[in-house]
Amino acid sequence: MRPLQFTLLTCALAHAVLQFAAATSDEAYPPPYGLDQPWTVSTTADDNLVPVRREVYGGGRIIDISHRYHPDMPSWESPDGLGNFLWLAKSMKNGSLANNSEMKLPAHTGTHVDAPGHVFDHYFDAGFDVDTLDLDVLNGHALLVDVPRDKNITAEVMKSLNIPRGVRRVLFRTLNTDRRLMYKKAFDTSYVGFMRDGAQWLVDNTDIKLVGVDYLSVAAFDDLIPSHLVLLEGREIILVEGLKLDDVEAGTYSVHCLPLRLVGAEGSPIRCILIK
Ligand SMILES: *[C@@H]1O[C@H](CO)[C@@H](O)[C@H](O)[C@H]1NC(C)=O
Ligand SMILES: *[C@@H]1O[C@H](CO)[C@@H](O)[C@H](O)[C@H]1NC(C)=O
Ligand SMILES: *[C@@H]1O[C@H](CO)[C@@H](O)[C@H](O)[C@H]1NC(C)=O
Repeated sequence: MRPLQFTLLTCALAHAVLQFAAATSDEAYPPPYGLDQPWTVSTTADDNLVPVRREVYGGGRIIDISHRYHPDMPSWESPDGLGNFLWLAKSMKNGSLANNSEMKLPAHTGTHVDAPGHVFDHYFDAGFDVDTLDLDVLNGHALLVDVPRDKNITAEVMKSLNIPRGVRRVLFRTLNTDRRLMYKKAFDTSYVGFMRDGAQWLVDNTDIKLVGVDYLSVAAFDDLIPSHLVLLEGREIILVEGLKLDDVEAGTYSVHCLPLRLVGAEGSPIRCILIK
């Protein structure tokens, strides 16, 4: 490695670490809808009205890799986050028999899935919506891999990952996780994603049918549409975006992702878990 390269890499790493430190210290993940307590609280016998919010279940056997939906989560190209998407349309305090919330949110919010109709109009018209996605692809053995932190996902990066043939589901953890981008309200175009040649390499040289990433788009902003086109054209690959991959060891798991059966929608919020 030449000295210049070394210096650049060192700077990039130091920068990432600094950003990470800043993100964890002063941008605490905002409290979710209706709750202003820390999320790590646990129930005690005396105070059983305190809800428990978990990242893992069953002593770590089940890992939740979905993000919580809340007003301060990032939303595509919005500087102000998702905003209020959920409201109490009927409330017991106002005499209703029960509390009933309503919501309105873009189909590609938070942890979500893309269907082929997202970038192909003729697929959209033909009905390739999220209800037609193959649950066999969305559920099964999966590999969680760490992508080099200094590049977008190019053909060269894909090649360097050495993902064996036969692997059908891969979750790609990138610099986005280190930068905690999914916990920042302002949309950030500098997120890491697939460049067109990386997407093409995946299609041509791997058996991957489930592609999971850790920010709102599988494609780098600079190759937004080209990368989506390459991945979705064959209608075999399913894209799961906005995954929460913090504090999970790289390795093999069983992944389980279930979209809503939204007829006519080219995207859907999705709940994804890993089982050890
Ligand atoms: C919602 O329902 C609970 C009872 O389940 C009631 O105590 C509460 O006041 C209601 N909340 C509002 C905002 O109406
Ligand atoms: C109850 O109704 C009042 C008057 O319409 C409104 O201002 C208030 O926000 C409502 N409260 C809830 C919890 O729906
Ligand atoms: C990835 O690409 C984006 C543009 O889409 C760019 O802003 C960012 O710096 C790139 N990230 C890395 C690590 O090269």
